[in-house]
Amino acid sequence: MKTVKDYIRTIADFPHEGIMFRDVTTLFADARGFRMAIDQLLNPYAGMRIDKVVGLEARGFILGGAIAHQLSVGFVPIRKKGKLPGAVISQAYTLEYGEAVMEVHDDALQAGEKVLIVDDLLATGGTCEAGIRLCERLGAEIVGCAFVIDLPDLGGRALLEKLGMKVHVLCDFEG
Ligand code: PRP
Ligand code: ADE
Repeated sequence: MKTVKDYIRTIADFPHEGIMFRDVTTLFADARGFRMAIDQLLNPYAGMRIDKVVGLEARGFILGGAIAHQLSVGFVPIRKKGKLPGAVISQAYTLEYGEAVMEVHDDALQAGEKVLIVDDLLATGGTCEAGIRLCERLGAEIVGCAFVIDLPDLGGRALLEKLGMKVHVLCDFEG
């Protein structure tokens, strides 16, 4: 039987020479693969209270929306700077070259709410760390951070675990 990893396509030299891009569009496009990914992302949280699912732009929106629907809870997007229309709080984070900023609406989460953070891929962990800080600044409690792919060479999992996060991934690839 095919695993989630089997549905993920690798494209060499995208977006730069030397990068092996792990492309989840082939996973999302397959009904069986997509359902398997959503079910497996949810596995560790059975029976736990989750009030909101938080998705990281952009592919975390696709996964997070499906997971929120499955749990019958709301979905909150964390977006790159300048995309959200309402009042936001912002968090800078480090990229391979330079800095970027993630934002969330300042009324998107209530203090004490339990949230699950979702994205397609964990690399350095910088994007998710920014997401964690935004959720925590709104007073939410993070139940876990769930990803389809981990690139362990890049150290993101270790970083998030150092921040006290429970990290759930479905498969690993070389970075
Ligand atoms: C990718 C991926 C994660 C992030 C992981 O998104 O979908 O969100 O990188 O990298 P990190 O762990 O090193 O922070 P990307 O920045 O390519 O943005 P996009 O989804 O908007 O294309
Ligand atoms: N984001 C960072 N590294 C990546 C990779 N190898 N494939 C897809 N997205 C990424």
